[in-house]
Amino acid sequence: MQNETAEGEAWTALERGEAMRLDALFEAEPDRLQRLVIEHAGIRFDFSKTHLSREVLESFERLAEARDLAGAREALFTGAMVNPTEGRAAEHSAGRGQGAPDSVSLAQALHLRMRALIDAIEAGAFGPVRHILHVGIGGSALGPDFLIDALAREGGERYEAAIVSNVDGIALERATAGFDPQTTLLVIASKTFTTLETMLNARSAIAWLAEGGVADPYGRIVALTASPERAVEFGIDETRVLPFPESVGGRYSLWSSIGFPAALYLGWDAYESLLEGAAAMDRHFRYSPPMRNAPLIAAFADRFYANVRGCETRAVFAYDERLRLLSSYLQQLEMESNGKSAKLDGSPVGRASAAIVWGGAGTDAQHAMFQLLHQGTHSVPVEFVAAIEPGHRLDEEHHRQLLINCFAQGAALMAGKASDDPHRSYPGDRPSTTILLDRIDAATLGALLAFYEHRTFANAVLLGINPFDQFGVELGKEIAKAMDDGADLDFDPSTEALIARAFGEEA
Ligand code: F6P
Repeated sequence: MQNETAEGEAWTALERGEAMRLDALFEAEPDRLQRLVIEHAGIRFDFSKTHLSREVLESFERLAEARDLAGAREALFTGAMVNPTEGRAAEHSAGRGQGAPDSVSLAQALHLRMRALIDAIEAGAFGPVRHILHVGIGGSALGPDFLIDALAREGGERYEAAIVSNVDGIALERATAGFDPQTTLLVIASKTFTTLETMLNARSAIAWLAEGGVADPYGRIVALTASPERAVEFGIDETRVLPFPESVGGRYSLWSSIGFPAALYLGWDAYESLLEGAAAMDRHFRYSPPMRNAPLIAAFADRFYANVRGCETRAVFAYDERLRLLSSYLQQLEMESNGKSAKLDGSPVGRASAAIVWGGAGTDAQHAMFQLLHQGTHSVPVEFVAAIEPGHRLDEEHHRQLLINCFAQGAALMAGKASDDPHRSYPGDRPSTTILLDRIDAATLGALLAFYEHRTFANAVLLGINPFDQFGVELGKEIAKAMDDGADLDFDPSTEALIARAFGEEA
């Protein structure tokens, strides 16, 4: 009760707080850069161009206390049941050595198994492997896809990889177009091993292997799953099934065997660096005081803009081609985790939960979306993500221009420019956060993704919701399944009949 009162008071203070413009805030708080730039694990997080004034931060600190954020965080890291609607812990950080001792030992044993399989593949146990064809969707695809795409240039020339998620056959056809079935390793990734898209893509990929003359296509499959018995039932040899625990959520599973294609493609050392980078961020989140805690301050900014300023979206722009898939990864992480209306106790959440995450890559996005950011009627907090070291060997000028543009956009959003001509006037006072990586490598990406995971968790705790279930995706699946079997619906489930019915026509 006392906590509820404190929580209500903190929100009231936030909602009634004085709105100071960003430029005025910099004048009133000359130490903003010292206080609001946090550096850790090779990443600089600059929150100075947000409306997090001292006063706002103090209110959020009180809110975090009232919500017992410290207790919730310990529960997360010690393997307590933080996902009660599914009756589970959320043990993704165990794969990074941070968690309950038994869970950490299990994660290490599973990693050893994964490494042994990689060694066997490299020693020729599967015959020559040149192509990695990974089928999986959502959390069973986005992490490996992001990581391989980001680090491909450092992954060497050993493999070509394709991640196929969409059930649209074009995706698989495109992926296999340049692959030789004789040198392809098929990876089937599915936590449940029941997901319709993945199972259909897996069957078609097996058919493609067989048509390509592979005598034993099942012998060329590696399965990544929390349901190993289903994978074995599917026909995959137990020794090629890499399991992971149920307590690792799909969108948090890159650190488990779902990371296999990335570890194979990039090499074990890179995968280990990824885990170490993430572990460094785990420790930062777990032990840093609130005012120096990057994921927590980011969550405060998220709540401020969503709940105090009424911003419905947040835009993330990667000023680095290597991070072009970042916003897709974050869409699942943040929207599937926190896009909820009910609190843990079942009561309505009563305020906006997850922001709609969107974005793209700079500088391209400047020439497509930034008009709205600078002059549009929506208020959108923007996040810029960039790296100090370039990823190419071309003239340094490319990278200099990339960074100049990134910094200029943040400055322009904040400063604006007055004009008598309303068409040429920029209101300014538009917030942005800059995340600057020293370089893009496995370690900094591990830290970056762990930062986003913990930020998502902190948002959920402030709201009182469970970020680890995803019942919202079930209804559509159920209706699709009913349409598929035609079981509950008394009609012809052919494609023509389905289209006619969807448009209210007689088949
Ligand atoms: O439909 C959503 C979802 O359940 C995600 O949470 C998950 O990452 C994805 O589907 C894939 O599920 P699976 O790994 O079980 O195939």
